Amino acid sequence: MSEPVTAIVFGAGGRGMYAYGPYALAHPDELKVVAVAEPNDERRARFAQMHAIPEQNQFRTWQEAMTHGKLARALVNCTQDPLHFDSTKAALQAGYDVLLEKPIAPTRDECVRLVRESEERGRVLQICHVLRFTSFFSTLYEIVRSGRLGRLVTVDHRENVSYWHMSHSFVRGNWRNEGLSSPMILAKCCHDLDILAWILGEPVQYLNSFGALTHYRIENAPAGAPLRCTDGCPVEATCPWYAPRLYGAMEGVPPRAGWIVTALGGGDDPQGRWKQLEVSPYGRCVYHCDNDVVDHQVLSMQFPGDVTVTFTMHGHSDREGRTLRWDGTRATLYGDFSEGRPYELRICDHGSGTVEVLHPESGESGHGGGDEGLMSAFLRTLRGESVPHRTSARASLESHLMAFAAEESRHTQQTIDMAAYRRL
Ligand SMILES: NC(=O)c1ccc[n+]([C@@H]2O[C@H](COP(=O)([O-])OP(=O)(O)OC[C@H]3O[C@@H](n4cnc5c(N)ncnc54)[C@H](O)[C@@H]3O)[C@@H](O)[C@H]2O)c1
Repeated sequence: MSEPVTAIVFGAGGRGMYAYGPYALAHPDELKVVAVAEPNDERRARFAQMHAIPEQNQFRTWQEAMTHGKLARALVNCTQDPLHFDSTKAALQAGYDVLLEKPIAPTRDECVRLVRESEERGRVLQICHVLRFTSFFSTLYEIVRSGRLGRLVTVDHRENVSYWHMSHSFVRGNWRNEGLSSPMILAKCCHDLDILAWILGEPVQYLNSFGALTHYRIENAPAGAPLRCTDGCPVEATCPWYAPRLYGAMEGVPPRAGWIVTALGGGDDPQGRWKQLEVSPYGRCVYHCDNDVVDHQVLSMQFPGDVTVTFTMHGHSDREGRTLRWDGTRATLYGDFSEGRPYELRICDHGSGTVEVLHPESGESGHGGGDEGLMSAFLRTLRGESVPHRTSARASLESHLMAFAAEESRHTQQTIDMAAYRRL
């Protein structure tokens, strides 16, 4: 094999440190991280040590890194949504090929401009639509495209966000407020919209959407609920979002998920986490936050061939995951891509009455193996090798346009003619 691809990482947070950094450590012959930009001193030092990055290549910000010329072949951009546009534009202009976390950017105009910039400069811009690279969704793609379901008639796809993930990310956390990040249908569901557009193979024709923030509002706060869970809440025993319970800050009660504790900080012991909850946004009462993104939204869509598609996203699920059904004239396919149980695809054949159940592998890395599959595909693209299910920035843009159109429909209560919307 040739020399590894060299990369600079912008943002050594959750995604930079734990999703893509480990790929370089596990596959040193494919990827070498040679520089990092991260304002948090502790994270930057830790990441630099993990990847043996020399001191002169450790920067506080992406802006500082860009003043040092081109330091690597590729950029892995894991900064937060509002930083994507400026940092990626500068990197494309400096000649980097870019792996960019989703969403491309928080506004439609910025998304279109970045895609054009990459195309005009002939640079690779790959968006981290990790689900495409899972065996679950690639198997779904193969089955639908094989014609085994007959003529496709209708699709029902759901993204069931668990109540605790909803509160962590979309009520208390980074994606709670549209002005600070982006609409939830973009932040959370551009993956799902990408999967639909990819497997259906043709662009959506018409789309409408409804949705609202129903529950996580001040008027739903229980009487006497303080601003923070740690301030003595009268309903702590029964509130599903009581932060000390979710984040493992109570003796003998394990956290709801490891990654939310990592995001909180505060260390391994319950006392440290409790202290952190006293000051962190994650300790706030879910009814007393500055959140404004929806907690449920539906889209109904028409694709060519009269295929109708519904998509539901909501933040009130007992468990985290996607569930779906694809109905064709010859068979129905049910899918379950949820955490905590084996992934399942069940094909029920109308003619023979047979049922075939498949359990696609979940893979070692995050997102059902998608994090590793995505990085592998990006590197193969840079090496000029063929990539199964290869995608492009323009293909990713379609999912983002669907999300922006859904927001427009939700606010105006109009059906969006997508051909006209794409021309805007
Ligand atoms: N593909 C997926 O499925 C997926 C999953 C989760 C998050 N994401 C996306 O990944 C991105 C990062 O999310 P995260 O959870 O890792 O966030 P994070 O907040 O944990 O990490 C972002 C990092 O960027 C750093 N940063 C801030 N300003 C900077 C600057 N000027 N220069 C360089 N670094 C800077 C922050 O200090 C932080 O460490 C977001 O856009 C998010 O939407 C994608």
